[in-house]
Amino acid sequence: MCGIFGYSGEKECNDLIFEGLKRLEYRGYDSWGIAILNGKIHQYKNIGEIKYDKMLQKLQKGNIGIGHTRWATHGGVTKINAHPHISEVGGFTLVQNGIVENFNELKSSLLKKDVHFVSETDTEVIVRLIELELLKNKSLRQAIITVFKKLKGRNTIALLSNNDKKIYAVRNGSPLVLGIATDGIYIASDTLSFSPATNEAVLLDDFDMVEIGGKNISIFNIESNQFKPVKIKKLKHQFNKIDKGNFKHFMLKEIVDQKETILFATKYLRKELLPLTDSIKKGGRVYVIGAGTAGFSAGQIAYFLRNIANIDAQEVKSYEFEQYISIVKKKDILIAISQSGETADTIEAIEAFKKKGCKIASLVNMYGTTISRLSDFEFYTNSGPEICVASTKVFTAQCAWGYLLTMTLDNRFEEGKKNLSILTKSISQIFLKSRLENIKRVANKLKNKEHAFILGKGENSYIALEGALKIKEISYKHVEGFAAGELKHGVIALIEKGTPVLSIIPSENSRDFNDMISAVEQVKARGALTVGIGNDKSSKREIFDFYINVSQVENVSSIANVIPFQLISYYLSVALGNNIDKPRNLAKSVTVK
Ligand code: M6R
Repeated sequence: MCGIFGYSGEKECNDLIFEGLKRLEYRGYDSWGIAILNGKIHQYKNIGEIKYDKMLQKLQKGNIGIGHTRWATHGGVTKINAHPHISEVGGFTLVQNGIVENFNELKSSLLKKDVHFVSETDTEVIVRLIELELLKNKSLRQAIITVFKKLKGRNTIALLSNNDKKIYAVRNGSPLVLGIATDGIYIASDTLSFSPATNEAVLLDDFDMVEIGGKNISIFNIESNQFKPVKIKKLKHQFNKIDKGNFKHFMLKEIVDQKETILFATKYLRKELLPLTDSIKKGGRVYVIGAGTAGFSAGQIAYFLRNIANIDAQEVKSYEFEQYISIVKKKDILIAISQSGETADTIEAIEAFKKKGCKIASLVNMYGTTISRLSDFEFYTNSGPEICVASTKVFTAQCAWGYLLTMTLDNRFEEGKKNLSILTKSISQIFLKSRLENIKRVANKLKNKEHAFILGKGENSYIALEGALKIKEISYKHVEGFAAGELKHGVIALIEKGTPVLSIIPSENSRDFNDMISAVEQVKARGALTVGIGNDKSSKREIFDFYINVSQVENVSSIANVIPFQLISYYLSVALGNNIDKPRNLAKSVTVK
């Protein structure tokens, strides 16, 4: 969702801000803007794709400025509603991430004072409130503090002041980090956006107010009313380039990256996992949480913990944590799963578990993010930037890490590593040309269908849900995943001649094999188009119209079984002409509730 990027320093920053916004694009946006200071504030705003046009080329150059990508919440997608929002009094312009939850209340009180509004946004309310404080002769600093304290919700703002030649920013909930480079200071919603310039970052806390003038920074916490030392953290990784290589879309590149990323997520040494496994052994129930795709990997991890290591593990959707919180005990452990590390629903759940006194572990892909910082045990999927809005490589990385954690708890760390390496080899086979052609054939069969169903059971039931989400997100087709056992209790009513049913078939020695085959036979008897995903040496191969071969590695092949669905989603959506990397209505990082 919305992104902030700013710079103050020695360099001319128009292009730096433009490039920074491009690197924030993956979060999702519908309009954008840049403000540059040079004698006065010069602004450019537009809707749609971030690209150069004549007006932007003509924008006055300067070496201090802020930029923003907007994901509309209050008011439509228009240039007027795009940020930054410039003041009429006090010479400043402002961008915001988040939602001002008391927007209506604040706006009506301003309207009663005859304050005039240009846009429909909640952001402009902040601008007008600051103006009123300035009219009371407050300093800009004081005005920002007074107004920020009135805002309800998770809001982060950045403001460019012409009078002070400074950037002011305050964080609450929505992410904000500083990048410390030799040429100047970067301020942004994530560390990835300034990664080519520096891997030295200052991770701001909630209610930190930062003032940047030239290359100088000061941080003042407006809650504790105290200045804070500037603590610079060296981030482990720096990404100079984010590109698709020879791939047409990030999605396909990221799917193919899975030849390696499972190993990156599980390169942990046994001793690095032990602090968490010891706490789990001594603790109570393990809750595993996440939302969307991360919610399904949370389910898969809890499945591994229960079924391999006999751990009392319960998956909970981050946004449903309140259903469970009354039974959560201090000795319980929370494992939070998130690609972005900034998902508001997951952060809220973590905060509630923390209040109960629980230890928090997290598995995150982005460095320096809120979820890692809230955790007692920090782990990373190390998958590299995932740019496509639909998560692929990070899902399998999360599941693989959960499997290794489980095998460590079961005192089978080495065996776990070995199985993951066999799994990685088997994944490479999926990308053989002949196999991809076969998957494309299945994708083409779905092109003219309105509905499709995915069946899984036991180790594959979360894979069926994630497979369906993947196809829905990009193809906009109605694809429903469910546990095969559900079929006869209702869903079978939807099966008619030609309805595609894709079934994940485990190895023949699995306790779920016979149930899966009987489910396929029931849908076949009603005319379904049957597609099997699993080992094609299956003795029941003949009941399927199509079969996608995925070698089965004991206990862990569920992770590879999701890849055909990712590829079906990709090929189907390419055939439909959809926007692959930025599907409609979706944002990569869901930082609001
Ligand atoms: O960054 P997170 O992993 O916490 O994000 C959670 C979900 O918003 C995310 O998985 C979403 O469902 C993706 N679009 C899945 O492809």
